[in-house]
Amino acid sequence: MKTQGIINCLKGLLFMGVILTLGSGQVCAAPKASAWGANYFPNIELVDQDGKKVLFYDDLIKNKVFAVNFIYTRCVDSCPLETAALRKVQKALGELMGRDVFFYTISIDGDRDNAQELKDYAAKFHVWPGWKFLTGKPEDVTMLRQKLGMYRQDGKAEQSLSEHGISILMGNEKAGQWIKRSPFEETQSLVRVLSTRLQSKHVARNTVAVDSRPPAESNGEKVFRSKCEACHSVSSEDGIGPGLKGVVGVRDRAWLKKWIKDPDQLITGKDPIALELYKKYKEIPMPNLRLQESEVEELIGYLEASDKTN
Ligand code: HEC
Repeated sequence: MKTQGIINCLKGLLFMGVILTLGSGQVCAAPKASAWGANYFPNIELVDQDGKKVLFYDDLIKNKVFAVNFIYTRCVDSCPLETAALRKVQKALGELMGRDVFFYTISIDGDRDNAQELKDYAAKFHVWPGWKFLTGKPEDVTMLRQKLGMYRQDGKAEQSLSEHGISILMGNEKAGQWIKRSPFEETQSLVRVLSTRLQSKHVARNTVAVDSRPPAESNGEKVFRSKCEACHSVSSEDGIGPGLKGVVGVRDRAWLKKWIKDPDQLITGKDPIALELYKKYKEIPMPNLRLQESEVEELIGYLEASDKTN
């Protein structure tokens, strides 16, 4: 009976791709213990933005609730949005950051992203303690991504949005709970996962900022919330990018459409307005979000409507 139980349990674990050393015995006996423990995660060495060496399992995730994502600092596609989205989550988590929740952003371009590059990158986004930017040997990082299910097997060069997989893995290592989410989701939903669903102990949640706005009223507003709001407000207040109040009146319509659709093309084409903005906003490139023509129209409609009500 007991033996059968252990066999079934092992089968389940092997199914998940977990290699277990028997001996310990406890893993199966204690249902709450993590199946994805020390034996599963590669304990690779990484270097953080301050040049400090850390081990992935021992120092970063063991017994912690955390979010992991992968970027490279030269990326002009999804990475700036991922970083900006996590920054909003960080802000909403308030004092939970660095105490109950940790963020790890790992570079997939270890050949070029050294500690200093990552430090400069993190500074542009005003990251707080509790959020580490890390780099390591490319082959180690690839293995880690494979283990975390965050690696695409198609073997193509990882130079564009679609190739490095846009997701954030969130987990509670001790409880063995794992959730994969997209940075395009509403901040509030990511905050809920990290502050509540993955927490096994009670954390004082009154410190977490709550978004009490009603649902978006138009598709333009919906797209704005998921793809622009991490960096922009519709008021005149700057975020990572400029506050967008009045921009529809100031900019030529064709330019505005082109910019929202393909900002990278205007920057590489040395468009003077694009270059001026790029310089002014710390050379953080506005990402090409692969929007449809219709979404661009709806966004502009939303910006116009907000100008009237604000
Ligand atoms: C990762 C941050 C980020 C995201 C996400 C983002 N932007 Fe930007 N945006 C910027 C930055 C930074 C600039 C300034 C130019 C630069 O550095 O490339 C900018 C500039 C702009 C401008 C030009 C403002 C002016 O004065 O002419 C507009 C318009 C704009 N963004 C609209 C949008 C819209 C619409 C979305 C969503 C579809 C969006 N942005 C998503 C960062 C972002």
